[in-house]
Amino acid sequence: MMGYRSSADTPPHIRQALERIGITTFYPPQSLALSKGLLDGRPLMVATPTASGKTLIAMMAAYNHVARGGKVLYLTPLRALAAEKLQEFTDFLGDEFKAVASTGDYDSADPWLANYDVIITTNEKADSLLRHGASWIDSVSLLVADEVHMLGDTDRGPTLEMTLTRLRNRNPRAQLLALSATAPNADEIAAWLGAELISLDWRPVPLREGVYYDGEIRYSDRARRKVRELDYNPVISLLLEVVQDGGQVIVFANTRKRAEQYAEKAAAALSRETLVTDDERDKLNGLADELLLSAEASSFTDRVAALMRQGACFHHAGLGAVHRRFVEKAFRNRILKVLAATPTLAAGVNLPARVVIIPELRRYEVGEGLRNISVTEYKQFCGRAGRPGFDTEGEALTIARSEEELELIMEKYIKGKPERVWSRLGSENHLRIQTLAVIASEPVKSFDGLVKFFESTFLCHQFGSALLRKSLTGVVDFLARHGFVEAADGLEATRLGKRVAELYIDPLTALAIIQTCGNRPRLMTELSLLQVVCNTHEVPSVPMRRSDSARLERFVEENREQFFQVPDPVESPDDYEFFLDSVKTAVLMNAWIEEVGEGELYERWGVEPGDLAVLRERVSWISYAASQLMRVVGHTDLVHLFELLSERVEHGVRPELLPLVSLKGVGRVRARNLYNAGYRTIEDLRRASAEELAQVPSIGPRIAASIKSQV
Ligand SMILES: Nc1ncnc2c1ncn2[C@@H]1O[C@H](COP(=O)(O)OP(=O)(O)OP(=O)(O)O)[C@@H](O)[C@H]1O
Ligand SMILES: [Mg+2]
Repeated sequence: MMGYRSSADTPPHIRQALERIGITTFYPPQSLALSKGLLDGRPLMVATPTASGKTLIAMMAAYNHVARGGKVLYLTPLRALAAEKLQEFTDFLGDEFKAVASTGDYDSADPWLANYDVIITTNEKADSLLRHGASWIDSVSLLVADEVHMLGDTDRGPTLEMTLTRLRNRNPRAQLLALSATAPNADEIAAWLGAELISLDWRPVPLREGVYYDGEIRYSDRARRKVRELDYNPVISLLLEVVQDGGQVIVFANTRKRAEQYAEKAAAALSRETLVTDDERDKLNGLADELLLSAEASSFTDRVAALMRQGACFHHAGLGAVHRRFVEKAFRNRILKVLAATPTLAAGVNLPARVVIIPELRRYEVGEGLRNISVTEYKQFCGRAGRPGFDTEGEALTIARSEEELELIMEKYIKGKPERVWSRLGSENHLRIQTLAVIASEPVKSFDGLVKFFESTFLCHQFGSALLRKSLTGVVDFLARHGFVEAADGLEATRLGKRVAELYIDPLTALAIIQTCGNRPRLMTELSLLQVVCNTHEVPSVPMRRSDSARLERFVEENREQFFQVPDPVESPDDYEFFLDSVKTAVLMNAWIEEVGEGELYERWGVEPGDLAVLRERVSWISYAASQLMRVVGHTDLVHLFELLSERVEHGVRPELLPLVSLKGVGRVRARNLYNAGYRTIEDLRRASAEELAQVPSIGPRIAASIKSQV
C-alpha cells in the first residue's frame, strides 16, 4: 500500500490541481482515502468530523475521473452547499474541465447538463432528473453523495435514500464515494452502499467541550476555569471574554426570536465594553451601508444593518439571500464578532468560530412540546468550533442551571454518542411519493418487481422485507384507487400518475387540487386560484403576524363567492383551520403579485424576506403543477389561468410586466419603471437606444447595455 502524505505522492495531474489551490500536505482522512484506493475506483465511505477535508477527497477522485473522460455527479442536501461546492470544484479543476450546479426546475431532463464534466445537484434535483429519465446519467462514472448521514432526516432522508438506490441500480459500475458526519452505525450505511468505511475522529483544530455552571466552566477532561462576570447573563459574559481575546463566537439559539435577542444583547454589550476597534467599526459601517443599498428597504433590513454596525448579528431562515451574504461575509472577514444563529447554520455553510455557545439544549417541536435536542445535533453545533488557521483550539460551551442539569449535559451530550441513522422511507407519506416515482420511471412491471426494487433500499437493509410488502400493498391500493396507477394485471402508471411523478409533487397534493377544481367559484379571481394552491401541504405555513381569526373569518364571509370550497367549521374544524391558514397565505401572495413591495409586505404581515422567497418558489411551482394537472384531467379553462398565476408569482408582477421581467437583470422594480417610462414590450426596448434606457430610474448605463444585448 502506498503512503500519501503530500501532494508529491499523487499522480502529476492531481498534483497540479492541488498546487492550484495551495494544498501541500494531506489531512489524515485524505491520506487514508488515497491509500484505500480512492484513485483506483474503489467504493468508499468517509465518515469523519466537520471540516476534516472530505471535499478535497471528492475533488481528487473527480479529477481522476474527468481526466480520463469520465463524468461526475455530486449530490448535496442544500442549495447553499451546491453553490459552495461549485466554487471549490471550479477552483480545483481549472479551465480544462467544466463544473456546473443545477438545483432548480423540477420539470425537466436538462439535456444540456450532458456538456459538463462535474454536475453538482441537490438530492431533490437528482431525484427529479431520474424521474425525467435524463440520459446522461448513464455516463456518470463517479457518484459522490455528500452528507450521507442525512439518510436519517425525517423530511429529506427518503429522497436521498431513493435517489441513491435508483442511481446505483441504474449505473452499478460507477465508483461510489459517500461522505458523512460520524455516526455509530456508519458501518451499516457503508455495508448497504457496498463501500469500504473510513472512519476517523480527527479534527484540524482540537475541540474542547465544557459546561458553564455557577460562575465557572467545567470541561470534560475535569479541568475547571472561573469566568469573568462581565454581564449578568452568563451567555453574554462568555462571549465577551472570547471577543476580548480576539476570537469570534456563534451562539446557537433554539428559535429565531431568541437568536435575535442574543444578537441584540451581544451588540449592546460589545458597545458597552468598547470591544470593536475604530477600524473594525469603519468596515462594519461600510458593509452595513452597502447592505442598505442592496437589500429591499424595510425595517427588517434596517434592523440587520443596525446590528451589523455594532459587531453582532443574527442568522436565521428569515434572512433574505442578500442579507445572508452580507452577514456571512462580515463574519468570515472577522469583523463581525458574534453571530446568534438558529440550527440552520450548523447544517449549512462552512462558517466556523473559535467558540460555540449552546445556551439551551431543548427546543419546542410542533405537536411534541419542549424536547431535548439529539446528540447528533449537539455534536453538529460543536463541529463549528475552531477556525483553522486562526484558532489553536475550538470550544463548545453549554449552560447548566442546576447540578442535575450539569450532570445530564456531561453524561448525555458531552460523553454521549450521536444517534444511529435510521431509514425514514417507511413513513406512509414518503413511501407513497417514492412508490409512484418508481412505478412511473423504473422498469418495474409487477407488484413483485416493485417489492424487489425496494429490497435494495436502506430501509430493507435495516428492517428486512416482511413489513415492506405490507406497506407497499397499502400504498399501491391508494394509488390505484385514485387513478395514479393501473394495478389490474401487472403494474403501470396512468398518464396522470406519470405526470404527477414528473411534476415532483405528492399524489395527495394532486388529488386535493383536482378534487377542489371540480367545482367553480361564482367569481373566479387570482385569490381563488391562490387559495387552492396554498391549501396543500407542500406550501409551507410561514410565520406571519397573526391577523386574528375573527378578522380572517369575516374576510372569508365577505369574499365567499371567490372560493372554490369553504369547509364547514362545525363538521370539519381541522379542515376549516387549514383553510383559514391557506386564505392568509393566499392574501399575502395576492398582494405580492399586485406588486406590493417586499418592505411593505413585511410591515403589514411581518413576513421576513427568507420566508417570502420560499413561499414564492413553492406557490409558483404548485401553480405550475396545477396547470399541468388541469391539462391531464381536462379542465382546459384553468390550464392557462394557473400557468399565468405561476409566472406572476415567480416574478411578483401584474401580467403586463411579464415580457419585461423575462430579461436578465430586470426584476419587478425595474420592469415597472421601464413600463411607466413607455417601454412596454420587447419591441419598444429594441427601438430605444441604450442612452434613452439609461435615463429610466434604477436602470443606468450598465443595465441599459445588458438589456440592449438581450433584445
Ligand atoms: N490538506 C489540507 N490542508 C489544508 N487545508 C485543507 C486541507 N484539506 C481541506 N482543507 C480545508 O479545510 C476546510 C474544511 O474542509 P471541508 O469543507 O472539506 O470539510 P468537510 O470534511 O467536508 O466537513 P463537513 O462535514 O462540515 O462538510 C476547507 O476550508 C478546506 O479548504
Ligand atoms: Mg463537507
